[in-house]
Amino acid sequence: MSTRKFYITTAIPYANAEPHVGHVLELIGADAVARAKRLLGYDVYFQTGTDEHGQKMLEAATKAGLSAQEYADKIAPRFRDLWRDLDVSYDGFVRTTDPQHRAGVIQFWKKVRNNGDIYLGKYEGWYCVPDESFVLESQLQVGPQGEKLCPQCGRQVIWHSEENFVFRWSKYQQALEKWIAEHPDFIAPSFRANEMINSFLRPGLQDISISRTTIQWGIPVPDEPSHVIYVWFDALLNYITGIGYGTDEERFRYWWPCDLHIVGKDILKFHTLLWPAMLMAAGLEPPRRVFGHGFVVLRGAEKMSKSKGNVVDPRDLLELFHGNPDPLRYYLLSENDFGHDAVFSPDGLVAKYHADLADKLGNLLSRTLSMVVKYREGRIERPATFEPADHGIREKVTAAWQPAPDQSGRTLYEQFIDDGLFAQLLQRSFAAISEMNAYVTEQKPWALAKDPTQAKRLDQVLYVLVEGLRLVAAQLFPIIPRSASAVWRQLGMDQAPDKVSFAELSTWGALTQTAVRPEGILFPKLESSPKS
Ligand code: MSP
Repeated sequence: MSTRKFYITTAIPYANAEPHVGHVLELIGADAVARAKRLLGYDVYFQTGTDEHGQKMLEAATKAGLSAQEYADKIAPRFRDLWRDLDVSYDGFVRTTDPQHRAGVIQFWKKVRNNGDIYLGKYEGWYCVPDESFVLESQLQVGPQGEKLCPQCGRQVIWHSEENFVFRWSKYQQALEKWIAEHPDFIAPSFRANEMINSFLRPGLQDISISRTTIQWGIPVPDEPSHVIYVWFDALLNYITGIGYGTDEERFRYWWPCDLHIVGKDILKFHTLLWPAMLMAAGLEPPRRVFGHGFVVLRGAEKMSKSKGNVVDPRDLLELFHGNPDPLRYYLLSENDFGHDAVFSPDGLVAKYHADLADKLGNLLSRTLSMVVKYREGRIERPATFEPADHGIREKVTAAWQPAPDQSGRTLYEQFIDDGLFAQLLQRSFAAISEMNAYVTEQKPWALAKDPTQAKRLDQVLYVLVEGLRLVAAQLFPIIPRSASAVWRQLGMDQAPDKVSFAELSTWGALTQTAVRPEGILFPKLESSPKS
C-alpha cells in the first residue's frame, strides 16, 4: 500500500502580541491530529506560521517604537519557541514576510488578475481594524452612545473608503454552494456548516476589496506599488506558498489539496467561503476540510482579551509543571471536544493533573513497575494463555482499534481524531486505566506473590498490566507525547510510539518480553495551588 499523505495546517496568528492560551489550544489540537496521523502511517506535513502584515500589525509596532519588520522579527520567534516548548511537532513555519511566501502571493495575484477576477474599483464600507475585516451595514451592532460596533469582537468600526483592487467573490456564489452541497465533510463540525450557509452564503456574497493604499505595510500589488495586498488575501495564501506554490511546483502538487485546515470558529468564514473561491479563481482545488474549533474561555465564560487584562500566559502554565507541557496539553484537550469551547481555570488544570495524570496514569505505572521489579526482578515474558479477567482488559485497551461504525474503513480511533473528539477519546483511555487499577486491586498480585502455586497467574497479571499500559500509552501519545514516551521507556521499550509500526503499537501481545526501567515518579504532586 502506498503511503497516504496528510497535509494539516493551523491558522497563522497575528504577530502583533505574544501567544496566549487560545493559540495554544489550536496548536496542540492540530498537533494531536498530526501525531495521530503519523502513528496511523500517513506521510504528514504539519504547517503553522505567523501573520505579519496589515494595519493591526503596524499599529502594534508603532506603539512599541519599532518598524513593523523589526517588531515581527521580535514576535515570530516567541511563537516558534513556545511551540517547541509545548512539543508541537510542526514541519513548516511560514512567516508572511518570508521571500518565498511573497513570491507565491505575487504569482497567485497575477494568475487571478489575468483570469479577470481582480479588478480596480472603488470600495467603501465599515471596517473593523482588530479583525481586519469589512462589516456589512446590516450586521453592525449599536453601542450605548450610538456608535457602530463590529458584531464579531464588539469594537468600534471605522468608515473606510478608497479606490482599490476588488476580488470577484460574487462570481463564485454558485460554485461554492455546489461545492459545499457535494462535500458534506468540508465544514466541520457539521453544526458550524449551517451558520456559514445561512448567515453568509445564502444572503449573497459581495465582491471584496483586496488591496489598501492607506498603509504601506504589506506585499505590494504587482505593477501597482502604491497598493499593498489586503492582509487576509495575503495570509490565506500561506497554505499554498508554504508547500511550494510559486517556487516548487512538484512539492506543491504532492501536498495540495490540504487535508485539514484547523482554525478558530471566528475565522471560519474566511476559510470556508473566501479561501475556496480564491483557489477556484486560480484554477486550484479547494481544501478537503476546514475544522472550526471552539474557544478557550475563562471560568465564568469571560472572553480573554488584552484590554481586559485577563490573557493567560502559557509560559506561566509551563513553569508550574517545570517545563512539562503535557499537563496543559491534556487539560485543554480533555475539557471539551475540539469543536466546542473549553473552559479554562488554573485550579481546574491542577485538579485534573492530580486526578487523572498523577492518580490514575502515574499511579498505575509506578505500581506496575514496582511489582515487576519486586516479584520478577524487572523482567516479564508474554504468557501462553490468559484468564477471562485478562481478556476484559485486552478488550478495553484495544477497543479504539475496532472499525468505526460509519463503515468508512477507519478505526474508531481515527474517526475520533478526525472529528476532534479528543475529550471522548481521552475519557475512554482513562476508563481503561481505571479498569486496570481496579484489576490490580482485584487480582492482588501481592497475595499471588506469596503463594508459589500462583506463579503462573502472577506472570499473567503482570504481563496484562505492562501490555495494557503499553497500548494505552500509545493511544495517549498524540495528546501527551512526552509522558507517553516516558511510559514506553520505563516499560523497557527502546523506541517511542511514533518510531514503531502501527501493528506493533496497536496489537495486543506484540510485546514478547521486556525488562522494565523505572525512572521515578512520572507526575509528581504539586505542593501549592496556583493563584487563580
Ligand atoms: N491572522 C489571523 C489568521 C489568518 S489564517 C490565514 C488570525 N489571527 S489571530 O491571532 O487572531 O488568531 C489565530 C488563531 O487563534 C485563530 O484560529 C483564532 O480563532 C484562534 N484563537 C484566538 N483566540 C482564541 C481563543 N480564545 N481560544 C481559541 N482559539 C482562539 O485570526
